[in-house]
Amino acid sequence: MTRVFHRSLAHDYPVAVSGRGVTIRDSEGRDYIDASGGAAVSCLGHSHPDVLAAMHAQLDSLAYAHTSFFTTAVAEELAQTLVADAPEGISHVYFLSGGSEAIETALKMARQYFVEIGQPQRRHIIGRRQSYHGNTLGALAVGHNAARRVQYAPLLIEAEHVSPAYDYRGRAPGETPEAYGLRLAAELEETIARLGPDSVIAFIAETVGGATCGAITAPPGYFRAIREVCDRHGILLILDEVMCGMGRTGTLHACEQEGVAPDLMTIAKGLGGGFAPIGAVLVADRVFQAFDRGSKLFQHGHTYLGHPLACAAGLAVQTVIKRDNLLANVQAQGAHLARRLGETFGNHHHVGDIRGRGLFQAIEIVADRGSKEPFDPALKLHARIKAEAMARGLMVYPSGGTADGTRGDHVLIAPPFIVDAETIDTIVERLAEAVDASLAQPG
Ligand SMILES: Cc1ncc(COP(=O)(O)O)c(C=O)c1O
Repeated sequence: MTRVFHRSLAHDYPVAVSGRGVTIRDSEGRDYIDASGGAAVSCLGHSHPDVLAAMHAQLDSLAYAHTSFFTTAVAEELAQTLVADAPEGISHVYFLSGGSEAIETALKMARQYFVEIGQPQRRHIIGRRQSYHGNTLGALAVGHNAARRVQYAPLLIEAEHVSPAYDYRGRAPGETPEAYGLRLAAELEETIARLGPDSVIAFIAETVGGATCGAITAPPGYFRAIREVCDRHGILLILDEVMCGMGRTGTLHACEQEGVAPDLMTIAKGLGGGFAPIGAVLVADRVFQAFDRGSKLFQHGHTYLGHPLACAAGLAVQTVIKRDNLLANVQAQGAHLARRLGETFGNHHHVGDIRGRGLFQAIEIVADRGSKEPFDPALKLHARIKAEAMARGLMVYPSGGTADGTRGDHVLIAPPFIVDAETIDTIVERLAEAVDASLAQPG
């Protein structure tokens, strides 16, 4: 009997024993193509020799030194690298052990920033519906994944939520994408006005929406308009690129394609590629300067932040991505994936939308393409698709609640950056079989 408190107590998990390239093997000898990098994590696939070598070398010299006593060469070098490649204005990096920790840190840093500059009355955070920022209480509060949030509602800090940039369901008939983006920015501005502009700390958004509604990209001009609204009211813009960042959409940062730079940006999954738990907050110089000229102490910290082994993994992953020019492969294979998804599901009766960017794409499943009506959530179609895909040796990342938090299903596809066209063809073929087998099940 297992003594592990697993994610689902109703499920028997295969035992993963090894991984190589884009494949994970279980204890029964079955291979699975990791077409989702777990949860958009494994950007270099599994067991990359250069990353393993860098981690071994770090372990042999120093595994751990607490950051209230020491800095380390590897943390300093990774921070230099990240700042050199960061969006305009970013000057410093605060390391963490994952995405939720990075979000908590960004929220607290944003709040303390206003205390440092003499605006302690600012208290509101505005997020978006249908977003996901993590499972810790602060991250759950500013995010809006209904299923993950509902039972903890009494514990959550107050947060405001505006509409997501969700073209498939949010753009009105006849409305241009540009007009839709401006309408959403106006909604943010109205919310700020209602709360009182000098009481708002930050607006937080995933640059490309991930876990809750599946690879939703913003309409053109949306983020530039959002940036202007934030600037007009002295509000910080926090971009959450934990899932969509670090190359996944074809540029190192997803916001590069939106033409904006955030004040704080969270990164995690692709930073360390799953070789070690690591996340970070990239901090704009003006935020850093407020601390440097002020108390000089960010009232925060975790035991494992800046862990040398995690930094070694992150540094090696980022070095390999650059050295092997893997973002070009993300763009090329992303275009191939989009093409194959379009050919396979473009006329499928139950695929309402195909969307995403780079190697971060999704299909949204609907009962009726005309009305966009989702399937009954009781069917748990997303769970069926996951099981059918696993039975075919394929890992994808399906979720429910896509449409409104309760209804709707989508499947996220996020293969490693090293994937080739032939493997993508196999991924799409197996996914099509898994979707059709799920839909064919009774009830
Ligand atoms: C956009 C985003 N932010 C934050 C998180 C939380 O990251 P973690 O699971 O590492 O705590 C996730 C995880 O899926 C995410 O997708």
